[in-house]
Amino acid sequence: NPIEKRIKNVELIELGRYRIKPWYFSPYPPQFNGLPCLFICEFCLGCHSTREVLAVHLRTVCTRKRPPGKEVYRKQGISIFEIDGAKEQLYLENLHRLGKLFLEHKNFVCKADQFLFYVMTQFDTRGFHLVGYFSKVKADIHDFNVACILTLPPYQGKGFGNMLIQFSYLLSKIEGKQGTPEKPLSDLGLLSYRSYWSHTIMGILLKVVATPPEGESKNVGVSISDICNTTSMKKDDVISTLGSLGICFWFEDGIIIVLTQEMRKEYEEVERSRRMRIDPKCLKWSLTV
Ligand code: COA
Ligand code: NA
Repeated sequence: NPIEKRIKNVELIELGRYRIKPWYFSPYPPQFNGLPCLFICEFCLGCHSTREVLAVHLRTVCTRKRPPGKEVYRKQGISIFEIDGAKEQLYLENLHRLGKLFLEHKNFVCKADQFLFYVMTQFDTRGFHLVGYFSKVKADIHDFNVACILTLPPYQGKGFGNMLIQFSYLLSKIEGKQGTPEKPLSDLGLLSYRSYWSHTIMGILLKVVATPPEGESKNVGVSISDICNTTSMKKDDVISTLGSLGICFWFEDGIIIVLTQEMRKEYEEVERSRRMRIDPKCLKWSLTV
């Protein structure tokens, strides 16, 4: 029923220590309709109708305090688990339902086996707490390196989405590919990618020009394919980002890029404010042939 799909059907969820108001419809089974709150196990993501039922579940059934799959990254309490869509059907159905609460148009559950899922958690003594995830098509002809990306609302705006994006490009780099997220992106998705792309490209350009003394100009060359190779970004995304940065100008028969000291200061400020970042050395992942 196409109309039903647009009506938000879950009032509230409780997940670990958070109570979260859903944004969109999600296909939870009918027995959960009309309840004031759904109690979701933060480890297996199964749904329960009361806190008491969930407590019993946590004591007796769900003793695993982490997502399934293989832990492929760990640093500073942040872990990323790689889950094969063909293997963890129940967990991924639960993840889909939970994610759908915050994603407007996504329907992958029927072909989950064609995807890999990268689930990010934050560790404390009680376990590995779900922060967010992205999915990715296994065999991909379009070079999409992300199908769907989500940071749970309590964790949004803290840099986790940026880290998920960093991680997706790190995987592309190891695969020797240039990747791009699947379109269309949501408004929040676009904001996050724009921010990631701009900052990444600015970092490269600023590195290319050796810090010139105030007021003195210096011309150095850099090509779009250099940027693609260094970042594993697709050419279209590099070009559109260069355009949106407003630093490119036609000059005689080519394009020149003009950077200012203000741009460098702004870049360094963002760098300083980002306490968390993906460390490529902490990836335990290799291309399986
Ligand atoms: N308003 C304005 N800017 C925002 C924003 C908001 N609500 N949320 C994120 N941004 C910008 C930030 O400015 C940040 O840029 P900065 O580092 O230059 O400041 C950038 O986006 C990334 O922020 P970050 O905290 O790393 O992202 P996040 O953890 O909040 O995750 C999404 C970003 C897109 C994954 C998250 O918003 C989300 O899950 N949204 C719902 C699902 C969705 O739309 N997914 C994408 C479609 S597939
Ligand atoms: Na965040």
